[in-house]
Amino acid sequence: MKAVGAATGQGAKFAKGEEPYDAAKAQAIFKVYADAAKKVPTLYPANSKTGGDTSAAPKIWEDEAGFKAAFAKFDADVSANATAAGTDLAGFRTAFGNVTKNCGSCHETYRVKR
Ligand code: HEC
Repeated sequence: MKAVGAATGQGAKFAKGEEPYDAAKAQAIFKVYADAAKKVPTLYPANSKTGGDTSAAPKIWEDEAGFKAAFAKFDADVSANATAAGTDLAGFRTAFGNVTKNCGSCHETYRVKR
């Protein structure tokens, strides 16, 4: 998720015009998202509920199916928008907006605010 945060910071710079759009970097951002969507849901076995430096909410284990479904949706949105994101700035803005909607909706339920 740290990599996802960093990739999103980069994406926001493109979207706001703070940094010139770069198709290769845009594709790399979506690659980070796709990797996270596949890997992160496997990182929460039942024995990881306590300890460690985590902001994972208990809801992850209470509603494991929902948690996995939220990642499946994120993954699907990433796949559906990856081509547009790597095409041009206009495509990237729309794609980035579509995909980053998932961040808040998942964090709302499955992440503890610190
Ligand atoms: C389907 C669920 C889900 C989606 C989608 C999701 N996250 Fe997260 N995110 C989490 C969970 C759960 C944590 C808490 C991780 C922990 O502490 O174990 C987290 C933690 C984080 C953190 C804290 C860093 C860390 O490692 O503690 C950042 C930054 C973050 N997410 C950014 C993002 C961004 C940006 C997006 C969208 C591009 C996103 N996340 C999408 C579930 C999600």
